[in-house]
Amino acid sequence: MDYSGKVAVVTGAASGIGKAIAEALHARGAKIAAVDLNRSGAEAVGEALGGFGAGVDVTDEAALVRFINAAERRLGPIDYYISNAGIGVTDGPGWGAGDAPNAGWQACWDVNVMASVYAARHLARSMASRDGVFVVTASAAGLLNMIGDAPYSATKAAAVAFAESLAITHGDDGLQVHCLCPEGVDTPLVKGIEGGAQGLSGYIDASEVADTLLQAFEDRRFLVTTHPNTPQSVAMKGSEYDRWVGGMRKLRRMLIEANNGRPM
Ligand SMILES: NC(=O)c1ccc[n+]([C@@H]2O[C@H](COP(=O)([O-])OP(=O)(O)OC[C@H]3O[C@@H](n4cnc5c(N)ncnc54)[C@H](O)[C@@H]3O)[C@@H](O)[C@H]2O)c1
Repeated sequence: MDYSGKVAVVTGAASGIGKAIAEALHARGAKIAAVDLNRSGAEAVGEALGGFGAGVDVTDEAALVRFINAAERRLGPIDYYISNAGIGVTDGPGWGAGDAPNAGWQACWDVNVMASVYAARHLARSMASRDGVFVVTASAAGLLNMIGDAPYSATKAAAVAFAESLAITHGDDGLQVHCLCPEGVDTPLVKGIEGGAQGLSGYIDASEVADTLLQAFEDRRFLVTTHPNTPQSVAMKGSEYDRWVGGMRKLRRMLIEANNGRPM
């Protein structure tokens, strides 16, 4: 793939996986427009990577569209859109599946799902016409659940479904869609919940996730996983759903014992 002079927008680019993807694209010649709630972080990343950055809340559709328009004016038509900003809230302190407050559920829905919808609403057709690449960073939690974080699990499952809709609807017109589903990655997002299920297969560096994603661009592979056991677990869930639920209950019991009464 020739990235030279291509324009890439990366959300959640001030930190972790988004920053690593922005760096990997820039290292291959792309110009980066970096978006994050963390304004100084986004500006620093954008300026260091041959483009610009801004403090934008991706859940604010009007602000996001203003940024997209500014990126196209300053750098050119967008070739890569990486919808990567994401949050989790946990079910604590009670750890019931419905315990997280409504505000936490709404925030997860807005960031983990609607931010991708807003970007696609504005860009899917024009990007398809120039064979653009649209990435939704979901999570292995969207495929296999995340014990102790029902809002994260439910909204990441919705993010997977939205990425599927994008690929099915706009793929024939030329849009190349990828759904990125990592397990544990060593970023600020997992600080304080290291003992959770997401870390059972080990934490990898964000740069490894970026390299895997760019290889998937070459291979035109829709589902991008980062840990060898993720596809196996998804296959097992698909073929023996009840056994999978039983296994997850057992895993939850083990995590609660290991984490002094908490599942993470
Ligand atoms: N770290 C992991 O183990 C892991 C595993 C699977 C999926 N993910 C997903 O990867 C993505 C990146 O997470 P990360 O691990 O790099 O975490 P991170 O916390 O390092 O980065 C997330 C970034 O998103 C930004 N952000 C949050 N809400 C925003 C908003 N409303 N508008 C703009 N920016 C916002 C944050 O400021 C932060 O810089 C997320 O979607 C996350 O759910 C992470």
